[in-house]
Formats: sequence, C-alpha cells, structure tokens
Amino acid sequence: MQVNISLKQVVDNSYDITIDSMPKMHFHKKVAIVTNPKVAGLHLGYLLSKISAKELYIITVPDGEEYKNQTSIDLIMESLFNHRFNRKSMLIAFGGGVIGDMTGYAASIYQRGIDFIQIPTTLLSQVDASVGGKTGMNNSYGKNLIGAFHQPQAVYIDPHFLTTLPKREFAAGVAEIVKMAVTFNKEFFEFLENSDLNDKNILQEAIRQAVETKAFVVAKDEKEHGLRAALNYGHTFAHVIENETQYKTYLHGEAVAIGIVMANKVALRMGLMSENDAKRVKELLEKYNLPTTYTIKDVDSFYETFFLDKKSSDASITFIMAKNIGGVKITDEIDKDLILDVLRTFKDA
Ligand code: NAD
Ligand code: GLY
Repeated sequence: MQVNISLKQVVDNSYDITIDSMPKMHFHKKVAIVTNPKVAGLHLGYLLSKISAKELYIITVPDGEEYKNQTSIDLIMESLFNHRFNRKSMLIAFGGGVIGDMTGYAASIYQRGIDFIQIPTTLLSQVDASVGGKTGMNNSYGKNLIGAFHQPQAVYIDPHFLTTLPKREFAAGVAEIVKMAVTFNKEFFEFLENSDLNDKNILQEAIRQAVETKAFVVAKDEKEHGLRAALNYGHTFAHVIENETQYKTYLHGEAVAIGIVMANKVALRMGLMSENDAKRVKELLEKYNLPTTYTIKDVDSFYETFFLDKKSSDASITFIMAKNIGGVKITDEIDKDLILDVLRTFKDA
C-alpha cells in the first residue's frame, strides 16, 4: 500500500532590502531584538528611536565568533519561551554576521519557524551575510555546520552604523565586495578601481551593487545547488588559512583576500585569467590594506585541509575560479599537481 503526500508548492520567499537611513517602524506584535553588548552600546539608542512594537524585548548574547554556538542559541530560546513568544512573534537581528546568522537560525527553529528581520551593522554583514537566508552556528566540528535556509522578511542596511566600525572590520567587508565584483560584474570592478570607498556616497553605491549582485545570485539558486557556490570565490583557500591560524590571526575577510589572490594564481595557470587582471585584483585589495600574502609551511597539509570544506567531497575539491574579471567557473577538476605548484609559490611569500 502506498499513500502519496503531494507537497509541490511554490513558496514566495521574496523580500526587500532597503539601503538607506532606517525608517520609523511600529510592529503590532511581540518583537525581540537580538544583539551583543558592543553593538547595543554603540547603536541600540538609535535603533530604539526608529523601532517600536506592541511588546519589545532586547536579548543580548556575548560578542564574538566563539559564541556563535548552541549556548547562545539556548539563551535566545529561553528568553523567547520566558516571554511567551508565539508563531506570530518576530526577531530582529541587530549586529554583524555572527548575530545575523544566529538570530536567523533561532528564528528558523523556534516553534518550527518564525519571522525575522536583518539589520546588519558591519560592512561584511551589509553586503553579504544579511542577504540570502543562510543561517546557522558553529560546533566543535567546524564553522556553520549546523543551520538552515531561512529568509528574512526584510533587510535594512543603514550605512550610519558603519561610522563606528574599526578599519580592519571595514576592510574585511571590502574583500567580500571585491569578491562579488570580480566574479559577476566587470563594470562594478572598474567602479571600485576608480573610486574610494571611504567616501560615504561611493560606499553606499558599492553596497547597493554588491547587494544587487548577491540578490541576483540567490534568486537564481537559493539553496546552493550550483551558481550560489560562486559566492565562495577565495573561500576554499581562506578556510584553510583560518583553520591553520586557529581563527586568531586573520579576520574572515582578510583570509578571503589572501584566498582570492591564491585562486587567481591558479586561474592564471589554467589560462582563465590574465596576469594583468590578477594584478588589478591584488592591487584593489591592497588599496584597503588587505593582506595578499601568506607563508604556507607545509604544502601537503594545506592541500589536505581543503577536504574539510563543505563544498568538497571525499574524492574531489570544488574550486571557484574567476574567469578574467566579471566571470566565474565552478570546477572540481583541477589537477592536484597544478594546485600544489601554485601553493609552493606561497612558501616564501
Ligand atoms: P561579527 O558579527 O563578529 O562582527 C565583527 C565585530 O564588529 C564584532 O565584534 C561586532 O560586535 C562588531 N560590530 C558590529 N557592528 C559594529 C559597528 N557598527 N561598529 C563597531 N563594531 C561593530 O563579524 P562579521 O564580519 O560581521 O560577520 C562574520 C560572520 O558572518 C561569520 O560568522 C560568518 O560565518 C558569517 N557570514 C555569513 C554569511 C551568510 O550568508 N549567512 C555570509 C558571510 C559571512
Ligand atoms: N556567503 C555565501 C552565501 O551566502 O552563499
């Protein structure tokens, strides 16, 4: 005997991303703002001048990637249960990518899923993490290994928050902007080459173009069956660098900058990228003092660590290669010797 359960349905997960000063908003429901002490200290007053709700709660979790874990999720859950949140209630993620990912994940599991809004406060989270609905947390096996796709109801990107961002955090966000331009948009790359992101109008325009690029990719491949993996350009190498340096030496965006340069060296050897284009990308990263060199002590061990990447299988590693500037190729067919050869050039970098 067989019973068929028909679940073919078209789900509309569409939402708007507003890049501007926060509008004033009132929510006729229970709302919890999830944030950390640093962001709250700097910007909660401003946020509360814009947002009100029938009942409004603030949930604070400790600041840092090391707290992107089950303990923080439990803390959020407990607060929601204590305040009797129901399925109509809503969360607001107010912070960088760590807060955004965890709040989204908490929203995805609380009573099997409630709404949430993203209000990202770092450049990296404004141009990347807040858009696209990847949510999650870390565990002892690695980063972002537990999570869910859960799209926010809306994203509010207010460049005002970036005025308090430390320079290194700002540059880390620039690396993700460069990533989108190199892989998807040659004109955007040229715009970045010819302008200074320290100018607030230029920055706002760059955020718009980066978000538009990410929105385009996510709309084509929400659950990362193909194209969305291209957003991991530079990341296959970056994850190994972060792993080797125990996440202590480089911010994620800094490791991505080095990873982009490494990927481009491979692309150059494969004939996918010209020497001049590789140089232009490196120079753009260096313009924002991002690191572009790294000393690989043990090339074989570096190569083996690629296999910890979520995109890789037991037998092959998936690499994202830029095709000159403005194009991208996702491949798991790069010759191991070629990769090792390129990695060797970073031995005395
Ligand atoms: P983060 O959230 O740790 O923020 C960096 C630091 O800046 C923190 O100390 C934070 O408290 C502080 N901060 C935040 N806003 C500030 C402000 N306006 N002024 C001063 N300080 C401020 O790091 P991040 O770089 O924003 O995000 C990294 C995280 O995002 C990682 O966990 C990564 O896995 C995740 N991520 C997710 C996606 C996605 O698609 N979901 C994409 C990229 C990255
Ligand atoms: N940051 C990669 C993604 O959102 O898919």
